[in-house]
Amino acid sequence: MKRACVIGWPIKHSRSPLIHRAWLKHYGIDGSYDRQAVEPDHVETFLTSLESLGLVGCNVTVPHKEKAFEVADVKDAAACAVGAANTLWLENGALHATNTDTYGFMAYLTHKAPQWKPSDGHVVVLGAGGASRAILHGLLESGQSCIRLINRSAARANQVRTHFGAQIEVVPWSARNAAMTDAGLVINTTSVGMNGEGSPDVDLGLVADDAIVSDIVYTPLETAFLRAAKARELQTVDGLGMLLHQAVPAFETWFGVRPTVTDALYQTVADDIGRE
Ligand code: ATR
Repeated sequence: MKRACVIGWPIKHSRSPLIHRAWLKHYGIDGSYDRQAVEPDHVETFLTSLESLGLVGCNVTVPHKEKAFEVADVKDAAACAVGAANTLWLENGALHATNTDTYGFMAYLTHKAPQWKPSDGHVVVLGAGGASRAILHGLLESGQSCIRLINRSAARANQVRTHFGAQIEVVPWSARNAAMTDAGLVINTTSVGMNGEGSPDVDLGLVADDAIVSDIVYTPLETAFLRAAKARELQTVDGLGMLLHQAVPAFETWFGVRPTVTDALYQTVADDIGRE
């Protein structure tokens, strides 16, 4: 039996077991996927002991993603772009790492808004943390030539620009509303709006009338930011799809089958979030 898990601290709210167990059952795979709480001081020991723990790999969530990146022997381009890993596996005795958030975001964006094309209007990204880096990497890889980056702390936004280069235009926090003018895609990558608390302090009034507005926060499924976008009759892309799609390459790596994100699976996880 192949065993995988997700580690984090805390870990009890992770929806990953719900997703991977549904696929294991659906594809009739002899495998398991569990939650494992691992304290920050024990992450390195855990990750370097995967083989002796009988694991083929694991997901890594907050706050261990940077540590996982450091510890891995082999890191792919997606992990290096973000400087953090969320998926690890053993291959010929070496610990490999990737970051599937990039894939997860782009896969859901192109599924929900297939009309979106790179360079169709300005792209605005709010936030400059790990999730922002994963999404910026995906947008740049897909051919987007210029992205406006807005972050409360200028220093962090400037670090991101240094990492990705001149295609990232850092907009001062004070100029955030004007920077929305004619935007075709706006993405909230900050944690603002989580658990129904607050909304990113930006005005969607000036974005293009056919703009797409995306939020990576999925608790609640409809954040105040997405509600504001709907009130302006804009197309929205929720955060749950990114969570589901980021699990696809990880499952395939460990269990050898590329799973499909179905509407039924989306609904199962959405219902679980609704019960919170
Ligand atoms: P992750 O790795 O999940 O992206 P993170 O690295 O903690 O999380 O980044 C959180 C992002 O949310 C940052 O861009 C942060 O802005 P700062 O760099 O200025 O801290 C942003 N953020 C968090 N709380 C915020 C708030 N109340 N208003 C605006 N931005 C906020």
